[in-house]
Amino acid sequence: MDFRYSSVRKGILLAGGKGRRLAPLTNAISKQLMPVYDKPMIYYAITNLMLCGIKEILIISDSKNMNLFKNLLGDGNQWGIEISYEIQKKPEGVAHAISLGERFTDKCNLAVALGDNIFHGNDFVNLMRSADSISKGSTVLAYPVRDPKEYGVVKFDHSGNVIDIEEKPELPASQYAITGIYFYDNTVFQRINELTISSRGEIEVTDLNRKYLNDKLLNVKIMGRGMAWLDTGTIDSLQEASFYVKTLEHRQGLKVGCPEEVAWRQGWINDMQLEKLANRLITSGYGTYLLKLLKTKYPR
Ligand code: G1P
Repeated sequence: MDFRYSSVRKGILLAGGKGRRLAPLTNAISKQLMPVYDKPMIYYAITNLMLCGIKEILIISDSKNMNLFKNLLGDGNQWGIEISYEIQKKPEGVAHAISLGERFTDKCNLAVALGDNIFHGNDFVNLMRSADSISKGSTVLAYPVRDPKEYGVVKFDHSGNVIDIEEKPELPASQYAITGIYFYDNTVFQRINELTISSRGEIEVTDLNRKYLNDKLLNVKIMGRGMAWLDTGTIDSLQEASFYVKTLEHRQGLKVGCPEEVAWRQGWINDMQLEKLANRLITSGYGTYLLKLLKTKYPR
């Protein structure tokens, strides 16, 4: 796989929310710090942004958890990227959180990833890169799920054109849920300013996407059934995501969502830097995996 890809975009990673459906696990610590098999949940979203070629990432979380994220991720230098942080004082919705990144974005186009979404698949990376390369409007990804009620749901007309997106509808118009990775042009902040608070008290990302749709600037890409999009919002789905990662990692001997590996494959850190990171992680076996990468000649 060709991991080298250049992009002028920046990435916002949202790591807030109350995680109520995971209580008591989330009573003291953020959901995005929970383990998904062998690494913290947030690693998967960071890795996806990195696979897109994004090197500047803003993490948005609440004041209670911010230092925990800082302790875990630092300034990103260890992975050859730049990580900065912004506090969202109250959980006022995904679009509100995005609005906090206006200064960071500095008129660049933007990728937004929800820190509790797990994606997997070679084709997914290609899909994300093609979405990221569109410079005007917004691109979102839709994925078929058995029960779409908990998500933003796409409504199609008879010819398969997208005519609406509804947030958590009682009667979903299709099985296609909007996933938690979004690509926006630099009109996004102006559009967010025009939004009003929804009935659940949030500035909704679905309303933002609908604005692009109404201007014929929303591109909905369908994720094929060979790709995986996993939820981590409930105890069962969190455990299922862990099993999924465990199964793949055991079978292939390759890690899913490993930022050290991606940084190295992107050429953002060199062999010596990878070795240093590996040595700090030897006791859990994670470091042994990183050291093995250095010895593996093919495929790089
Ligand atoms: C949010 C969005 C929803 C989207 C989902 C993806 O839901 O509002 O449209 O489908 O993320 O994970 P929430 O996490 O607020 O329930």
